[in-house]
Amino acid sequence: MTRTLIVTGGAGFIGSNFLLTLAKERPDWTLVNLDALTYAGNLENLVELEGNPRCHFVHGDICERADVERAFEAAAKGSGPVSIVHFAAESHVDRSIQSSLPFVRTNVLGTQVLIDAARAHGVERFVHVSTDEVYGSLGERGYFTEETPLAPNSPYSASKAGSDLLVRAAVHTFGFPGLITRCSNNYGPYQFPEKLIPLVISLASEGKPIPVYGDGLHVRDWLYVVDHCEAILAVLERGTVGSTYNIGGHNEYPNLEIVRRILSAFGQPESLIQFVKDRPGHDRRYAIDASRIERELGWRPRWRFEDALPRTIAWYRSQTQWLQRVRNGAYREYLRRQYGP
Ligand code: NAD
Ligand code: TYD
Repeated sequence: MTRTLIVTGGAGFIGSNFLLTLAKERPDWTLVNLDALTYAGNLENLVELEGNPRCHFVHGDICERADVERAFEAAAKGSGPVSIVHFAAESHVDRSIQSSLPFVRTNVLGTQVLIDAARAHGVERFVHVSTDEVYGSLGERGYFTEETPLAPNSPYSASKAGSDLLVRAAVHTFGFPGLITRCSNNYGPYQFPEKLIPLVISLASEGKPIPVYGDGLHVRDWLYVVDHCEAILAVLERGTVGSTYNIGGHNEYPNLEIVRRILSAFGQPESLIQFVKDRPGHDRRYAIDASRIERELGWRPRWRFEDALPRTIAWYRSQTQWLQRVRNGAYREYLRRQYGP
């Protein structure tokens, strides 16, 4: 079916990968990207879409109803029912520890503004892109299922859990056509180099010290961003309204192992690893049970870590100008506050 989509946060890491995927896989859909272009938003990610008559950019803030209305005006140029895929968020745990308020504003308030506008316009579906971090932290064994109680530990994950609950409440109270996805850690092209994998790639490429928090044995379940985008598309097209879908790759690694693999790809010594003060409240382990989306929607990750990590490294190696441009003055100031002079 032909659709018109409003994608919030489409200039960020996952949002831009999603738009690039959709422009290829659903070429008859109209795509409206609503993005405030914060430090994490970069239109350069979307140069491939320039001149595409079905792709529209609206520069705006999801917390401002008037901006959201402009996105609906742009969507009126498309055909078929309008749906929303909601990526826009403040997304970095360390930043949420430095300053929590922007996370509450965009992730909680912004999501409610979108829900209100979506209800007023009678959208067909609203896919809320959330995170496994809302479940808190695991011990050595076990997995997060969709029934795991919410127990967020960082201001970031608490604000995401708040937004999930607002979507849930709208479904329950108003019959709102909301669906929630909760994915594990992503990696791949266009990820801002404050997150572990692109940060380590950019430091290793320059032979600089790699900051590893605590003992480096915290475990994350890594998923290639293209697989995440395919999962979101499956949920949008075939998911059951009111349902939550966990998305993950069965691909757990301790941080040290990730760092070692990247150093080895660059031929750099492990002596670059620098153990630094642990993140306050650092979650020990995340791991996803994705059997619901596998069973109900037939989604499975297609990329193996052994192939997609080298592919990601090769992408960053070929994009030195992209990397240089996103590492602007404001980003250097953040790094100084996070890791010291
Ligand atoms: P990102 O930080 O790379 O991008 C966020 C985008 O949202 C940017 O383009 C930014 O400009 C935009 N934005 C921020 N505030 C806005 C506002 N008020 N109005 C409009 N646009 C605004 O984030 P990401 O890593 O691409 O994550 C996207 C979504 O996926 C988030 O909701 C995040 O919680 C979720 N998620 C991320 C991961 C991950 O590993 N990166 C894993 C699971 C879930
Ligand atoms: P991150 O990419 O920030 O994702 P999240 O905290 O949302 O999982 O961090 C991934 C893991 O890497 C996490 O356990 C924290 C750790 N980490 C470091 O050890 N050093 C760093 O400089 C960063 C940014 C993260």
